[in-house]
Amino acid sequence: MNTLLFASTQRTIGWVIASVVLVGMGVYLLFSFRVGKREIGSEIDLAPNRVRHADDDELETRFLDRNLAWSLVLLTVVSLILPLYWLMEPARQDNAAYGWVKRFEKRGANSFEEACVGCHGPGGVGGVASYTLADSNGVFVAQVDWKAPALTTVLSRFGESEVEHILNYGRPGSPMPAWGLPGGGPMTSQQIHQLIVYLRSIQLSPEDAIAQVTSGLQAGARGIVTSRDPGLTNADAIAAAADAWLIQAADPASSDYRAYGELLFNNPAAQGANSCARCHTPGFSYGASSDEATAELIAEWPRLAEAGVLTGYQPGTGHVGPSLIGVETHFPTAAGQEDFIRSGSAVGIGYGNARIGTGGMPGFGGRTDDLNVIGTVVRPRILTPEQIAAIVAYERGL
Ligand code: HEC
Ligand code: HEC
Repeated sequence: MNTLLFASTQRTIGWVIASVVLVGMGVYLLFSFRVGKREIGSEIDLAPNRVRHADDDELETRFLDRNLAWSLVLLTVVSLILPLYWLMEPARQDNAAYGWVKRFEKRGANSFEEACVGCHGPGGVGGVASYTLADSNGVFVAQVDWKAPALTTVLSRFGESEVEHILNYGRPGSPMPAWGLPGGGPMTSQQIHQLIVYLRSIQLSPEDAIAQVTSGLQAGARGIVTSRDPGLTNADAIAAAADAWLIQAADPASSDYRAYGELLFNNPAAQGANSCARCHTPGFSYGASSDEATAELIAEWPRLAEAGVLTGYQPGTGHVGPSLIGVETHFPTAAGQEDFIRSGSAVGIGYGNARIGTGGMPGFGGRTDDLNVIGTVVRPRILTPEQIAAIVAYERGL
């Protein structure tokens, strides 16, 4: 009760003023109402045919009383409004803070519309960026379509300061430019903050995040079952076979367990937002997602191989993140590696065998760090512990 009534200093002040006013009114009423007593001089009657203007006596009694009564009424109103003002103050402050958040969100949405939609799609659902690849001498190599990941689960994977870092400095070597002044971009730190407030508002619910991951797995599994059984042509039959494949492949005892891990690693949904390959496999974001696809790409742009930019499909050999070949030497146990993938890296914090994080590796197991923000931000986990274990099995076999 106390905590509710005196929730803040303003509330306390409000209650103190209210109690002083109420007690004062009570005392006044008790002592000053002369109930049932007639006014002094009221026995002198006027002649019935005469209407006389109020004389001094009356002016000093009835008129004065009426005016005093009105003063009392107005005073009461004022003394009630004063504590009410203080009582309402905390709510008013909350609303004001919330209003600021909404204004930041709106301005962030406007900047997003101007600066980001072209690549990341409306509402951040993902898109593509046309990008020119050059060799180390700056000579043209290829013109590619680089997938810009959906941003609808980005706060599940990164802390807000990590997102701020990405927005400030961009991703060198990718189409994502630097936006903040520290990275040489055009936006102030407040505009970057507004963008992050906007990103909060477009994060998927836990159910939708799961559906996003699953849709990518289903697409991949459909590819696997049709390549194994070319006779499958009916869409419903393919979907059913894909679902069945996913269930059996998720079993660690299954011979398809590593293929399942690979599928998670390469998850194509949401422009690769939830995949690992876009940061750990060279060229994945512009089409090097399998042997055949990479061969096609190199056939179209031979300079890719000639200049050594992309020489073939080399899963897990490193791009934004390091090569994962021989990752066992950095993580002696699979469990340690799973923990790392759940939480991701943090700036200056060691992981595995004496490596120091830059904050560039996202966490896929749901974030637990406190945001300390007004309003709710949904940050569901992207992958289940079982899915992460399957990916690790795949990685340790690379
Ligand atoms: C020219 C295209 C382009 C524009 C414009 C652009 N981005 Fe990007 N952005 C990308 C690409 C491509 C990536 C992925 C880079 C990679 O493959 O490593 C990316 C990555 C990101 C990431 C990291 C996501 C992750 O999960 O790794 C964030 C956050 C982001 N962009 C936000 C923004 C915001 C906010 C804006 C607008 C201010 C913006 N981007 C404008 C192309 C763009
Ligand atoms: C946005 C880019 C990005 C994505 C997506 C990403 N990683 Fe990473 N990863 C990194 C970076 C960067 C590092 C290096 C750590 C650092 O700099 O903080 C790293 C490090 C790692 C390491 C440690 C490697 C070592 O030996 O040091 C493992 C294991 C790993 N990632 C696995 C994964 C898995 C599994 C996924 C997908 C579920 C994934 N990564 C998705 C960027 C990424």
